[in-house]
Amino acid sequence: MITLLGGSGYVGGAIRKALDQRELPYRSISRSELDYYQPEKLAAWLQESETQFLINAAGYTGRPNVDACESDKCNCLNGNAILPGRVAEACKEADIPWGQVSSGCIYTGRPAPGEGFTEEDEPNFSFRKDNCSFYSGTKALGEEVLANEENVYIWRLRIPFNELDGARNFLSKLMRYAKLLEAENSITQLDEFANVCIDSWVKQIPYGIYNITNPGHITTRQVAGLITEHGLAPHEFSFFESESDFMQKAAIAPRSNCVLNTDKLEAAGIHMTPIEEALHQALDNWVPEAS
Ligand SMILES: NC(=O)c1ccc[n+]([C@@H]2O[C@H](COP(=O)([O-])OP(=O)(O)OC[C@H]3O[C@@H](n4cnc5c(N)ncnc54)[C@H](OP(=O)(O)O)[C@@H]3O)[C@@H](O)[C@H]2O)c1
Repeated sequence: MITLLGGSGYVGGAIRKALDQRELPYRSISRSELDYYQPEKLAAWLQESETQFLINAAGYTGRPNVDACESDKCNCLNGNAILPGRVAEACKEADIPWGQVSSGCIYTGRPAPGEGFTEEDEPNFSFRKDNCSFYSGTKALGEEVLANEENVYIWRLRIPFNELDGARNFLSKLMRYAKLLEAENSITQLDEFANVCIDSWVKQIPYGIYNITNPGHITTRQVAGLITEHGLAPHEFSFFESESDFMQKAAIAPRSNCVLNTDKLEAAGIHMTPIEEALHQALDNWVPEAS
């Protein structure tokens, strides 16, 4: 039996869907049913329910975007930095392995021309570097809290998308924003991510940090081009002149744009679809949101 925290959210919903499709027994627990921030309560639940693996997809992202974290710091810190430590305590007490949904937004840029950040690279978009959004800072802290934990997977998700139109989908965001920021990024097909989380445990790959992005990298202009090619562009795309133009006109907190290396996951025997192919699949099968 798997226990899922945050199953009511965007990422947790995709994990629920994957668990359903694979007919794996699980329970999705909400804060309103069980205060999972309290290790003793969570550990008791894990023992009573005979949970074998826990997936923590609970966290705080800010709505409509990360700028909202700048004005709700307590919740953001609690959900992203404190909660992983509490869950670790409970899983240790119940003696079960688990996995934490983390983020690639703890990096900016590339480590060197032509390269992506590996799991060994220290986050360079964090409170320690004093250059980040409050959201990214708390996600980096969340990983730091787990640095010496055993029996835990840290899955780094980055800019999720799939074929389902919606406010949280990267492709929908590009279609809906009036103006776009040109940047190069690694991105993640959300349903593949959900299956990788499950496969980590099913296939018993070594514990530790994994960058879970579709191999390759892509620019905003390239994605906008693919959207146009598929006849899904609602208008002609226009771009901010520069990052500082974007910061001045449309954002409060700095954004992470970065490229991640995916060799470690591949070496563990889990393969993800190359980035352009995954984007084509999503756009070929696009399901517009019901109005
Ligand atoms: N969405 C993205 O673009 C993205 C990208 C990379 C990484 N991530 C990470 O993925 C995880 C899930 O993100 P998401 O987009 O699925 O978020 P979401 O839609 O807001 O869902 C998160 C869930 O976490 C639970 N939760 C626990 N503590 C919370 C708090 N203090 N404030 C708000 N919700 C809280 C809630 O479930 P209950 O109330 O039912 O318990 C909520 O439904 C987060 O750790 C996030 O950092 C997300």
